[in-house]
Amino acid sequence: MLRKCSYGLLGISLFFLGKRFVNGRSVPSQLLKESDLRGQVVLITGASKGGIGYETVKALYCLGATVCVSVRNLERGLEEMDELERECKSMNRNLNLGKIIVMKMELDDLESVREFCHSFLQKFDRLDILINNAGVYSSPSTLSKQNLEIHFAVNHLGHFMLVHFLKSLIQQTSVAHNKECKIISVSSLGHIAVRNKDQLLFTKEKLSTPQSSPMFAYGFSKLCNLLFIKSLARQFENETATSNSLKPVAKIGCYSLHPGTVSTNVFRSVDGLGSLMLQLTKWYFFKSPLAGAQTSIYLALEKMSNLESGGYYYECKQYRGESWIAKEESVQDELWKLSEELCKD
Ligand SMILES: NC(=O)c1ccc[n+]([C@@H]2O[C@H](COP(=O)([O-])OP(=O)(O)OC[C@H]3O[C@@H](n4cnc5c(N)ncnc54)[C@H](OP(=O)(O)O)[C@@H]3O)[C@@H](O)[C@H]2O)c1
Repeated sequence: MLRKCSYGLLGISLFFLGKRFVNGRSVPSQLLKESDLRGQVVLITGASKGGIGYETVKALYCLGATVCVSVRNLERGLEEMDELERECKSMNRNLNLGKIIVMKMELDDLESVREFCHSFLQKFDRLDILINNAGVYSSPSTLSKQNLEIHFAVNHLGHFMLVHFLKSLIQQTSVAHNKECKIISVSSLGHIAVRNKDQLLFTKEKLSTPQSSPMFAYGFSKLCNLLFIKSLARQFENETATSNSLKPVAKIGCYSLHPGTVSTNVFRSVDGLGSLMLQLTKWYFFKSPLAGAQTSIYLALEKMSNLESGGYYYECKQYRGESWIAKEESVQDELWKLSEELCKD
């Protein structure tokens, strides 16, 4: 009897230890304790309930930030953010909660991104942290409003345009308040799906053709996240290196990350056997959304001196598992040029 009980206890302990292992590292508690985002403005794309963005908003709002959340369904976004505010108020009676502002932006339509940026610039006079979080995975092989492959359009190009319009505000914020500002992109380990340069979909023609493999298209768009962040980091570094020493220079850190395999709605379009496998394994083997948000929160809060701009992060630390293509400056430049052309069209 005693033996059976001890086996039972061992089983339960292993079960919970395993789950803790799956959830991975959290933001160091000291960093959370020391962080105060009052007065700062954060913009995060895609923060639907049950997702990584939702948990990221919650953490930054609880630290006092004014968080602007871009959603594609305004009515649902307002309801979900109301709920988030209520949850935070009931949990943190003594904390200085920030403010949440919900705005509409459809990342698969560049016109909508343009309109969003226009309204954002009228509403806000600073932007301290931009988190490019929204993303689609394995949606059917459809095209965006501008007839571009949907993963590329939502996960990369919409965010490229967003940064293009808001970059000056981020630079001004850094200079005017003499502080570090951040641009963070939620990428994925899936970016390694692109193994060689021949697979790069770097022409308008290729990008206007629906992809037969959503998994590859998703991976390609996530590689674009890394390439874009690395280009941005280089540009800011060059600006610092060539700046006139008498003129204050903006301190902007750019980072990409893999959140881990997280139990969110991003897998909703997977069907058949894939969906069954997901349902069976999700609860135990996938991170919780809160655990999946840890690296985004960490990058938003950590001092730039402890981070490497252009770096790729996982589990709240730099991860060297990025693909070799992501590091190729010529590929980064090619994507930049193509993205600029596509945004002009
Ligand atoms: N979950 C994982 O295992 C995993 C792994 C690696 C990387 N990621 C990345 O993590 C990020 C967050 O995803 P998640 O897992 O938290 O899933 P999620 O809850 O589905 O979050 C994705 C967000 O993007 C929004 N979105 C999708 N298409 C959009 C569009 N056309 N315009 C504007 N917003 C749009 C979604 O809005 P709706 O709710 O309206 O669709 C949602 O708020 C994504 O970039 C994803 O690629 C996730």
